[in-house]
Amino acid sequence: MEIPGFENKIIIKAVQEHGTPLEIASSGMLSGNMDRARRALSFCGWQDNIFYSYKTNPVPDALRILHQNGAGAEVISERELNMAIGLGVPPDRIVFNGIYKSPLALRTAVEKKIKCINIDFPQELDIINALTETYSGKIGVGLRVRPSVGWQGQFGHIIKDGSAYAMAQRIIANKKLDLKTIHFHLGSSNLAIYCRAIDESLDFIRNVNRRLGADIRTLDIGGGFPGQDMRLLTLWEQGWLRIFDRPWPFMAESSNNGFEILAGTARYFQRAKTEHGLNDLTMWVEPGRLITGNAQVLAVKVVGLRRSGRKNYAIVDGGRVGAAGPLVGETRKLSVLGNKEGCKKKVYDIMGPTCMPWDRLVAGICLPELEIDDIMCIEGAGAYFVPMETEFSFDKPKSTMVG
Ligand SMILES: Cc1ncc(COP(=O)(O)O)c(C=O)c1O
Repeated sequence: MEIPGFENKIIIKAVQEHGTPLEIASSGMLSGNMDRARRALSFCGWQDNIFYSYKTNPVPDALRILHQNGAGAEVISERELNMAIGLGVPPDRIVFNGIYKSPLALRTAVEKKIKCINIDFPQELDIINALTETYSGKIGVGLRVRPSVGWQGQFGHIIKDGSAYAMAQRIIANKKLDLKTIHFHLGSSNLAIYCRAIDESLDFIRNVNRRLGADIRTLDIGGGFPGQDMRLLTLWEQGWLRIFDRPWPFMAESSNNGFEILAGTARYFQRAKTEHGLNDLTMWVEPGRLITGNAQVLAVKVVGLRRSGRKNYAIVDGGRVGAAGPLVGETRKLSVLGNKEGCKKKVYDIMGPTCMPWDRLVAGICLPELEIDDIMCIEGAGAYFVPMETEFSFDKPKSTMVG
């Protein structure tokens, strides 16, 4: 069976050329996903407000294609900022987030006049205030807030307890700062959660505009739109695996409605902002997994087969430890290339090559009987596989691009 967007013969050719483990991205899938995302926002005229989250898959060739297809850059570190600048992304297409931005990165961001620096940690404001003393123009900034839904913890300033308002006051106190954006990121979410976060943020924006005389023009709602055929493992699934060392038998399907959630969120936002009297407000998004997730596969090779106790183990040359970090708590589809029709089926644990007992890609998966040198593909490798790669005893996977 073919993986959507990837012909088997093309994968095999790439593997012959570059070896395994190999990250294979599809330029057609990347541009197709960008096109779908732009179409989801175009009815509001917001198709240019997509800032791809660099952290999700910082592969320069893939990023180039996304930029050619209309994506801006969302970066969260000095390295990512320099990468975007190095790739020729215009400064007014770069949004800078993150809970730690180095003083040098902040200086670069100000000097290059990037689109927006979304302030998160309080000390960051001290650094930016100091920069305003030597910088002649006004610096456009945003504020990361934390609605009552979605990721909590160390991110953003809480709306409900007044911390976000207090931080907005501190920003507005400096006349050389222009507080123009409010930002949140919720983590993987559904439409109802986005709507709730939008409502709370719009109340906040109206309040800050009215009471503090601010002129907030944008709500940047981050990423979190679900990618294709991937989801977080539920607590049940994780607990079962831990206790019984076997997968939870009633595996749920992924919802695969990321683009619908994106369009639905935009529709909701458009209605809600008018109801809040914020007609001129625009919306930015920072999708990661929705855009690149299913546009990349990880090809690994079967290098060892053994039966031990009551289990069949297949050892492959790229495992969770070195090549597939997200599989610790997420699901992905896995397929074996080649004509295996009519082959006997067997249940395998697919293990990576390191000495870590937990270097397991999948537990208890039923596959056609495997042979040494069989090539296996893990789908959805375009979301967080590359940034979570390690060099634990082995080289990191190589990367290539196909049509
Ligand atoms: C601020 C911010 N924006 C965007 C994203 C991208 O998220 P996703 O890949 O779930 O769309 C992340 C992911 O952590 C994030 O932290």
